[in-house]
Amino acid sequence: MYRTHTCGELTINHVNQIVNLSGWVQRSRDLGGMTFLDLRDRYGITQVIFNMDTQAELCNKARKLGREFVVSITGLVAERSNKNPKIATGDIEVIAQKLVILNESALPPFTIEDQSDGGDELRMKYRYLDLRRNPLKNNLQLRHNLAILTRNYLNDLGFLEIETPYLIKSTPEGARDFVVPSRMNPNQFYALPQSPQTFKQILMVAGYDRYFQIVRCFRDEDLRADRQPEFTQIDCEMSFIEQEDILNIFEGMARHLFQKVKETDPGKFPRMTFTDAMKFYGCDKPDIRFEMKITDLNNLVKGHDFSIFDNAQLVAGIAAPGCSEYTRKELDALTEWAKRPQIGASGLVYIKCNADGSFKSSVDKFYSPEILRKIADACKAEPGDLVLILAGAEARTRKATGELRLEMANRLGLRNPEVFAPLWVIDFPLLEWDEETNRFYAMHHPFTSPKPEDIELLKTDPGKVRANAYDMVINGVEVGGGSIRIHNKQLQRQMFTLLGFSAEEAQNQFGFLMNAFEYGAPPHGGIALGFDRLCSLFGGSESIRDFIAFPKNNSGRDVMADSPAPIKQQQLDELCLQLVKPKTE
Ligand code: AMO
Repeated sequence: MYRTHTCGELTINHVNQIVNLSGWVQRSRDLGGMTFLDLRDRYGITQVIFNMDTQAELCNKARKLGREFVVSITGLVAERSNKNPKIATGDIEVIAQKLVILNESALPPFTIEDQSDGGDELRMKYRYLDLRRNPLKNNLQLRHNLAILTRNYLNDLGFLEIETPYLIKSTPEGARDFVVPSRMNPNQFYALPQSPQTFKQILMVAGYDRYFQIVRCFRDEDLRADRQPEFTQIDCEMSFIEQEDILNIFEGMARHLFQKVKETDPGKFPRMTFTDAMKFYGCDKPDIRFEMKITDLNNLVKGHDFSIFDNAQLVAGIAAPGCSEYTRKELDALTEWAKRPQIGASGLVYIKCNADGSFKSSVDKFYSPEILRKIADACKAEPGDLVLILAGAEARTRKATGELRLEMANRLGLRNPEVFAPLWVIDFPLLEWDEETNRFYAMHHPFTSPKPEDIELLKTDPGKVRANAYDMVINGVEVGGGSIRIHNKQLQRQMFTLLGFSAEEAQNQFGFLMNAFEYGAPPHGGIALGFDRLCSLFGGSESIRDFIAFPKNNSGRDVMADSPAPIKQQQLDELCLQLVKPKTE
């Protein structure tokens, strides 16, 4: 019998019992007369001791054990004289009577400790070793707990989990598709779904009313800490509902998860329009754990002969609390930060609101203390705060000021990962104009319904049309997004036309959905939450990678399995594929 107990189970209540344990050698220490072995499995660590005086042969065998050897021991549970309150089994140790080496291990390339000495790429290559470490094990346990709670919650509300295909037709949904060649249909391709969007809508046409799926999605896009090429959504769709129903049900689900897993209730989610989010936070996913809202300063700063402000489309400021004592060096460094291409500011103006009520700014030449005070008041700055001002083209300046707001909050420690501030961002624009291609794109996707009161604007001013679309945002992370869908085929056609699809293209790409709409589509809508992002938020991390068992690196590679990789000529021939030289930029 490999084991009677796990390595995390034994307590003082088991003293004097003979037990079998199996696991990995975390560490072994040879103290001459005694050898101590820390035996680890998924459940914990148990100390095993070998006594040279009484069991020399066994002890010599134990001395030869290397890290990560797989062993099985039989022994007697005894109370420890030197207790370790840090681990669950710290009151006891097991005095070994038998040791079986089940498997040897090569020397691991990094330490299997909570704080490992291995770099990112190395740990990705040996993912199975990294997964033995507690932080990753806890993350995957958290992921499992969240999945079970989600399934049960939705099941209790009558949602059916229905699988949709992974080999589908390529339909543009924002990102690029991953495509899969079909051997049986030469020169034709499936695409891996960016989301089950069209299928879940068709399930509504089929009458399934409440659908969900914890489902893998695939997007060929540039990767970041919160983006993987394959990721998981909690995907949902409902019929005969309005936006309000969706917001309530999924806010309820998120609160349920917070209560069960974090033992906290974030309360009712506030709602913010897209317009306000952009105006006050410079982005559509505001972090509202802290204030520091953006203030438009155009009215106060123009007409004082300061050409940079006079010529700017937007002058915007924030008040960084308690930063008035920033040194010249710190301000210069912050200015350099703002000028980085990722932020794109052309410069940074500051006003120090000194504790004695006076002001000192980088634009004293142009603005009287009276005006500086007005600017500070508009930004809600208190004595001791530092007002930071950016100027330039409107969209760019808003975005840059939003980034500066987050940067200052990071520096001030205002983004505590254990504080949760969720909200709904609502009333997104339906369409987004793209200067490069000179056409509209759907801001969410082409199936999103315009607000009924804005439908008339589709003909006259499409850019102004608001959508029945919403995002769930937590701590500045877009956790989920959804919309009420178009269920009327004429309106759907009008949408495709606006998005620049000819009738043939629309029929070719979305004909199956349009055909389904011929047969009684109910009013419907839904949402998808990014499950990996939800897990990383609950786990207090910004990176989703550590909440996915086998993630890709930033170049989209699985460095453990070494994929993607070339395939054999025979496979290429079967698929009617020919390799060409990649284009160099
Ligand atoms: P959307 O494209 O907004 O909506 O995606 C929903 C959520 O999925 C997560 N997400 C990602 N997570 C990790 N890596 C990625 N590459 C990635 N891309 C998206 C985000 C996002 O909010 N079909 C619609 C939903 C609907 O309308 O019902 C959709 O997919 O958290």
